[in-house]
Amino acid sequence: MAAAPTDVMPVVPVARGRRPLTGHGRQLNGDALAFVRQLRAYGPMAKIFIGPRPVYVVNSPELIREVLAVQARGFDKGAMFDTLRGPLGNGLITASGDVHRRRRRLIQPGFHHERIERYTDIMSERSTARSASWHPDTVVDLVPEINRLTMDILLRTLFATDPGPALHAAVKEWLSVKYRSMRLALSPLQAWAERVPVLPGWRPPDGGPLNRLRAAQQRIIDDYRADGGDRGDLLSMLLLADGPEGAMDDAEVADELITMFLAGTGTTSAAMAFAVHEVSSRPEVQARLQEEVDTVLGGRPPGFRDLRSLTYTRQVLTETLRLHPVSWLSMRRTVRPLTLGGTELPAGTDVFFSPYALHRDAELYEDPDRFAPERWAGGAARPARGTYLPFGAGNRLCVGEEFAWAQLTIALACFTSRWTLAPADGQPTRTLVGTVIRPERVPVTLTPRRTGRP
Ligand code: HEM
Repeated sequence: MAAAPTDVMPVVPVARGRRPLTGHGRQLNGDALAFVRQLRAYGPMAKIFIGPRPVYVVNSPELIREVLAVQARGFDKGAMFDTLRGPLGNGLITASGDVHRRRRRLIQPGFHHERIERYTDIMSERSTARSASWHPDTVVDLVPEINRLTMDILLRTLFATDPGPALHAAVKEWLSVKYRSMRLALSPLQAWAERVPVLPGWRPPDGGPLNRLRAAQQRIIDDYRADGGDRGDLLSMLLLADGPEGAMDDAEVADELITMFLAGTGTTSAAMAFAVHEVSSRPEVQARLQEEVDTVLGGRPPGFRDLRSLTYTRQVLTETLRLHPVSWLSMRRTVRPLTLGGTELPAGTDVFFSPYALHRDAELYEDPDRFAPERWAGGAARPARGTYLPFGAGNRLCVGEEFAWAQLTIALACFTSRWTLAPADGQPTRTLVGTVIRPERVPVTLTPRRTGRP
């Protein structure tokens, strides 16, 4: 007898264009942003294939909330993070279950308001120094400049005293290794290699850079342990954090330091690069930003207390992260059988969602491809729940969110109070798609301003 209509499981549509061996590999490794965006047309959930592996792509804000919050305990982080665990260790971003819960409780206080207040002094001083080093009427590609600034700020936030050349060299070497975690997670060949063990799949990269970074970190950790005090930096917080299940040991602290290097640099740099790209190509937006920084700062460097007054600056950044959510594709994997949107998913099922596609949905945002900071003016313009997710949500919400907002706001205020930025050539800026999206280059001409200089 046929089941009553309410018992019928919804059939999740398979996206068009699936090929026998590669599945949707061609689309994912081609114009992936356009592909994830058009998946929204399939309804609340769509099914795609990476080689033989099915992946459920969740489109509706309600179901994304199920994944990130309501049923969060039923999910692990999945494909991309499995490949990252080797080179990254078991830090907050890759850890799961109880290990994650304990770490999160220990680490979160390091990102509380009072700590951020101290870090903003570093952000302001370093952003001012970096923008002061640029020369008038020259062309500068701001991408490498922003990368250096972000790493500089993170290192000074982690270590109150200069950690020395050995650590700088070890971090640089470790970051230069390409882990290709997103590409592997989307690779049909990798998916087949997991299923057919004789195929040549991914092997962990040479552990040398990681081992050298760990050794350099250990010397610093030893020094901090011997001293025992709180130096007001993030490393002190990691070492001194304590809870019912005890403090972190050296290996755990080392994993968390490595996690901060990775999670706190590429993301913030990419967001900042997109922001200056948008601002430099929109004179009217830049003029409003400059008017605001001149009024609020009156020529002095920005600080923690200015963050809440720099409201238009924040709108510009909010809009930047809507249009360019650098974490463009998020992944989870079910750790037990569960039901999502009426569909039963066995344990081990991959589930993706794309903040990029969500943020550019015409049903959620009017004229979604237009850069319009004014859409965030006033409290009334808050996004509906689950429709704005540049930092994720739920138990895995970015622990560095407040840190990132502070850094982006302060850097943008510093740059625009000292300089007027204009695009240096008519070439369109390409968006590179990897673990994060980022602009390939942002060449600008710098004209000094007479007013408002910090
Ligand atoms: C604009 C800048 C940033 C963006 C867009 C961003 C985005 C994100 C997103 C989307 C997640 C959640 C990933 C998921 O659910 O799968 C995340 C997690 C995380 N982020 Fe960020 N992030 C930024 C800056 C930072 C900074 C500055 C730090 C640290 C200094 C940081 C540290 C972390 C950590 C440790 C996690 C893992 C949290 C957990 O799983 O409990 N992030 N970030």
